[in-house]
Amino acid sequence: MAQRLDSAGLTFRRDYFADPAGWAALVRLLRDIFGIDIGPLQRLGGPDPASMPFGWFDAEGELAANISAFALPFVINGRSVHAAGLQSGAVRPPWRGRGLYRNLTVKALDWCDRRGFEAVILYTDKPSLYEPYGFRSIPLHRYEGTAPAASAPAAPARRLLPTASGDLALLQSLLKNRTPVSTSLGVTANAAMFLINTQLDADVRISFLEDRQAVVAWKIDEAGRFSLLDVVAAEIPTLAAILGGLAIAPASAEVFFRPDKLGWVGVPQPLKSGTRLMLRGLGDIAPTSPAMLSPMADF
Ligand SMILES: CC(C)(COP(=O)(O)OP(=O)(O)OC[C@H]1O[C@@H](n2cnc3c(N)ncnc32)[C@H](O)[C@@H]1OP(=O)(O)O)[C@@H](O)C(=O)NCCC(=O)NCCS
Repeated sequence: MAQRLDSAGLTFRRDYFADPAGWAALVRLLRDIFGIDIGPLQRLGGPDPASMPFGWFDAEGELAANISAFALPFVINGRSVHAAGLQSGAVRPPWRGRGLYRNLTVKALDWCDRRGFEAVILYTDKPSLYEPYGFRSIPLHRYEGTAPAASAPAAPARRLLPTASGDLALLQSLLKNRTPVSTSLGVTANAAMFLINTQLDADVRISFLEDRQAVVAWKIDEAGRFSLLDVVAAEIPTLAAILGGLAIAPASAEVFFRPDKLGWVGVPQPLKSGTRLMLRGLGDIAPTSPAMLSPMADF
């Protein structure tokens, strides 16, 4: 049976990202619970202005519990979806088991419904937490195969440093005008997530192919396997053009989204991860071809 809410000693607030104390409390909550530092986001243009955090604060101004909703439009099977994402869901250990998370989840979903979002998505390692609200898991697949021969570039790619102001402005402008990386599944806009994810994994390289006006998020491992995480561009270049611009000739490639715009065919492989992508709304829709959202959209 569902427990009642026990919020004694706590104050409910929403929309506190513009308040430096509220934002700092969220940074501490996510550092303490997940070991993730989202503080650098302030140097990368700040949180998405469409974000709406919901939280219970204690008397000292610490966040006991938080969940944040934000606009996350995406494409699935060629259809544009006006969707929201839920992220940063956490409750500090002393405050667990009092119904605080259920209370915030209901508030956040109610906000999404009132705002007219037709779907809500989230990542979680605890799917059973969200199934009662109508969320269902979407299977995720990456693609792997032999790398194509690189085509000759007009100019070599340049590494970008997202924390440098000129590079940040360039990235923001490309993120604003990006096209989904795949018609099967891909985000339409996710500037804040892309930018913070450049800081959370030290192995991710961000390169600018000027002749293609494309930014590529990629990795290469010691065995020479190329991993393509995301492409930010108004027109997606082929994988051959990307490798040409990066001036690399790997033996094998893996792509962390469906490569339908890359002029390359890989073999889909189920993504091995403890984290699930869950979707609420849109009936029982699922990608008709194996697909996943780029790790640079992870939230
Ligand atoms: C998971 C977490 C948010 C739950 O917070 P909480 O305030 O204790 O949750 P509530 O008291 O509101 O319980 C809400 C419901 O979730 C269930 N629940 C609690 N912890 C759960 C878990 N680890 N897995 C699955 N269900 C869980 C409760 O039984 C309750 O079910 P009910 O509504 O049927 O009674 C909290 O334990 C936490 O912050 N964990 C670490 C971070 C995390 O996992 N965040 C969510 C990842 S997306």
